[in-house]
Amino acid sequence: MKVLIVYYSMYGHIHSMAQAVAEGANSVSGAEATVCRVPETLSDDILKSMGALEIQKKLSSVPVCEVGDLATADAIIFGTPTRFGNMCGQMRQFLDATGGLWAKGALIGKVGSVFTSSATQHGGQESTILSFHYTLLHQGMIIVGLPYSFEGQMRIDEITGGSPYGASTIVGAEGQRMPSENELNAAKYQGRHVAEITAKLCR
Ligand SMILES: Cc1cc2nc3c(=O)[nH]c(=O)nc-3n(C[C@H](O)[C@H](O)[C@H](O)COP(=O)(O)O)c2cc1C
Repeated sequence: MKVLIVYYSMYGHIHSMAQAVAEGANSVSGAEATVCRVPETLSDDILKSMGALEIQKKLSSVPVCEVGDLATADAIIFGTPTRFGNMCGQMRQFLDATGGLWAKGALIGKVGSVFTSSATQHGGQESTILSFHYTLLHQGMIIVGLPYSFEGQMRIDEITGGSPYGASTIVGAEGQRMPSENELNAAKYQGRHVAEITAKLCR
């Protein structure tokens, strides 16, 4: 059973969450999780002006996802930072190249799930995940979120991401905050939950 984790990360936060999602998925017997990134669409000059060029060079060792890879997965978990309350353009461009898969119904019946990050606590995590779901539904995917059995999403003793829609992390205005233990646990839980449901469907 193949679980594909497809993400974009400009400053490394979603990259960290993706590793945790993979760890959770791989903890399920029979699951094989693969992490890959969508292609960058910004020039080096723009990345440099955004303070992202160095981290992008480090992340470039992560394999780039091909559109066709989606068709061979049993479940796909997408990770995207919030951009104005929506998914990032790099992810949108990747998804907009999946029309051929849509025409063949290649993703129908596969499990789809989304995790995200934003600078601020109320900066659009839920809108990013929910609006991402539109694309998954058009592709005929079965959406899985982060159930309340992950109790860490109910914490109020510390600022934390995580909602029934999916795992998330709050990075701070300067991106200075890396995912907390609770947020990484949410990501692991989501990976495991998706893999468990996918295993049942594959049976
Ligand atoms: C163009 C742009 C738009 C953004 N829009 C939002 C936003 O609407 N709300 C928010 O809280 N953060 C916003 N951010 C901050 C990003 O969500 C943040 O940098 C990202 O979650 C960090 O994840 P990464 O390190 O994986 O890229 C924006 C950042 C950029 C560059």
